[in-house]
Amino acid sequence: MAKTFYCWLPFFCQLWGIQTLSLQSLANQSRIYIYEQTAQEQSLEQVQQLQAEVQSLKLIVHGFLGSRTHSSIMPLRNAYEAQGYEHILVADWSPAANLDYASSRRAIWKVSQVLAKQLQQFLGKHNVPLHAVHVIGHSLGAHIAGCIGRYFNGSLARVTGLDPALPLFTPRADDSLQSTAAQLVDVIHTDYPFFGDHTPRGTVDFYPNFGRTPQPGCEEVDLLSASKLLLEAYSCSHNRAVLFYAESIGLPKNFPAIPCRWQQLRAGNNCWAHLQEANLNSSRLQQAISSMDVSQVVYMGEQLTRSATSYYYLQTNAAPPFGQGVHAKFS
Ligand SMILES: *[C@@H]1O[C@H](CO)[C@@H](O)[C@H](O)[C@H]1NC(C)=O
Ligand SMILES: *[C@@H]1O[C@H](CO)[C@@H](O)[C@H](O)[C@H]1NC(C)=O
Ligand SMILES: *[C@@H]1O[C@H](CO)[C@@H](O)[C@H](O)[C@H]1NC(C)=O
Repeated sequence: MAKTFYCWLPFFCQLWGIQTLSLQSLANQSRIYIYEQTAQEQSLEQVQQLQAEVQSLKLIVHGFLGSRTHSSIMPLRNAYEAQGYEHILVADWSPAANLDYASSRRAIWKVSQVLAKQLQQFLGKHNVPLHAVHVIGHSLGAHIAGCIGRYFNGSLARVTGLDPALPLFTPRADDSLQSTAAQLVDVIHTDYPFFGDHTPRGTVDFYPNFGRTPQPGCEEVDLLSASKLLLEAYSCSHNRAVLFYAESIGLPKNFPAIPCRWQQLRAGNNCWAHLQEANLNSSRLQQAISSMDVSQVVYMGEQLTRSATSYYYLQTNAAPPFGQGVHAKFS
């Protein structure tokens, strides 16, 4: 449609053609790298044999303006390595991620197809089952993770979306993260209405501090980055989703969360009405947290409570450790 429209004018036609072609060649430069405990970084096709049998495989995908070593996603790789995870993969789509935002956003589908094919080849070559694969993406990378999941027809074990990017995405966009991307899709929202989406996109969605900007501890930094709207990669609230998740890898019960109604989350209201219906007051809630009673409290992050569905609320601290663990209050 758009192409037909632009091609009424030869100049635009040419421009469109060049752009699409060069976006594809930039997308083609995307690579996945593997980090095994005792080996140097290798790109996937260089791997002859894996050092250990694959129980679980993590693939991390960065966002706009990022790269495989970008500070916005390094906490994830560091946390997995510290916990002894053996097969950590990091995608690098920096050639297409370091354009203007609109072009990088337009490259999402192309980049995901390139990455998904590399992953598929690797899984086939090393006999890794799809149910061992977990893709984790931040910002635009969350949508790429979703599209990779879609490439595998939803049969990967899990896709995690860390503050999926909001600008230029509609809730149902074909190339956006959807709850059908994998068997389990968990999403953490932290920067609405700036760079992060508030739309539920998972089988389970977490809204720390109502999912809104500024997150505690980000009040001043966010004002600065909001005034320079392009600095998405440096937005404090947008990156909080990554830091929460990274912290949860080593501290699995650190982010207790309570179910909340979507309307209340959307309005940034408290969740007490819902709690009262569930017959919880603060002392009973405290009890549920300390006894890890998953009928009342679920945990956000790597060790997500598997039975969790729909929407959850929690509060966090302004500085690490962000999780409030057994001291969580939900006021
Ligand atoms: C991108 O890669 C595909 C598959 O390898 C190839 O067919 C295509 O020509 C490449 N496109 C560009 C613009 O480099
Ligand atoms: C996903 O489903 C389509 C249509 O059934 C099929 O052609 C494709 O090979 C499947 N993809 C994978 C990775 O299994
Ligand atoms: C909380 O509820 C329990 C039982 O429903 C009750 O025994 C307790 O007194 C209540 N505590 C407060 C602080 O209201």
